[in-house]
Amino acid sequence: MPSQDPRGRSGPSRRDFLRGSGVAAATAVLTAPAVDALDEARAAELAQGPPVLSGDTTITLQVNGQAREVVVEPRSTLLDTLRNRLDVTGPKRVCDRGSCGACTVILDGDPIYACTTLAVSCQGHAIETLESFDPEIVPAAFHRNDALMCGYCTPGFVTACKALLDKNPNPTLEDVRRGLDGNICRCGTYVGVLQAALDAAKALRKEA
Ligand code: FES
Ligand code: FES
Repeated sequence: MPSQDPRGRSGPSRRDFLRGSGVAAATAVLTAPAVDALDEARAAELAQGPPVLSGDTTITLQVNGQAREVVVEPRSTLLDTLRNRLDVTGPKRVCDRGSCGACTVILDGDPIYACTTLAVSCQGHAIETLESFDPEIVPAAFHRNDALMCGYCTPGFVTACKALLDKNPNPTLEDVRRGLDGNICRCGTYVGVLQAALDAAKALRKEA
């Protein structure tokens, strides 16, 4: 059953999700005095066990500043949900196993792999995708620096680059390398990608 979290959102929160994996073990080791110390509501909650989601589940995701309600299966990844349910196709499916970075989105300011993230765990968190970026900054820098060949990896690199510059608008080459080290380019356009990131940083500083 979806629950109501303390901040008033309905549906399973990330806290519920984490609690779900830990409650069974915690219940098994609680001693009688420890159980006595729990208030009645908490004890009832523990006795009830973790929320079990099944079948169609309605969730609301904050995508590029908009609240998007969507029906998903609890096992649906964020990538599937964005691409197949919400028509947000900037994040790409390439490896679908958390190794290439093509599906990168920004979640609460951090780059994450959408292909290995459950959509239900993203409620209440800000999701940013390529679609919301200023085309004149990072995408334009990739274009200027010829930072793509086949282009499969490019949306992920652009997104990881945006996440880096949001936190560090004046990165060194080493900062850029570290910021983009979760993404791979099978065509090997790393030189162009690194130049593009530094160039985008310069463009950002000019704008400021
Ligand atoms: S598609 Fe998600 S990491 Fe490759
Ligand atoms: S440009 Fe082809 S995988 Fe990067």
